[in-house]
Amino acid sequence: MEQRAFVMIKPDGVRRGLIGEIVRRFECKGLRVIRAELMQVSRETAQIHYGHLSAKPFFDELVEYITSGPVFAMIVEGCEAVANSRSLIGPTNPQDAPPGTIRGDYGLDVSENVIHGSDSADNAAKEIQLFFK
Ligand code: PPS
Repeated sequence: MEQRAFVMIKPDGVRRGLIGEIVRRFECKGLRVIRAELMQVSRETAQIHYGHLSAKPFFDELVEYITSGPVFAMIVEGCEAVANSRSLIGPTNPQDAPPGTIRGDYGLDVSENVIHGSDSADNAAKEIQLFFK
């Protein structure tokens, strides 16, 4: 099923010069990047985006991290874009992410895990609206 997903290269990925490599992986997989922007996330947008995690002990750290420098936000489109993006990205904690996945190849720690991908079609629609309104 054709679908759209929201994918965001986080500030550590941008700082480390991984935009090109990560976009290449999505394109090689067959997903199309139909919109992309290097942007600074405001604290307000970060708090909305991670609102479901506001009770977590790492919430403040997460907001600091995602606002610490520019992110590269993308809309990717293609067959089962949400599930296929997540399989390219790998598990949340890079220590559990197998080599060959983006987090497995480029991340070390859960607090800086390089990239975000929507976890459902509903959340993809909300995130696309939030970041590309
Ligand atoms: S949780 O705890 O089950 O809700 O976690 P999860 O859904 O896998 O992750 C949600 C986002 O929170 C980030 N995260 C963390 N940040 C800092 N420290 C710790 N310990 C931590 N655990 C999870 C994680 O990177 C997820 O970010 P996104 O942008 O959604 O991938």
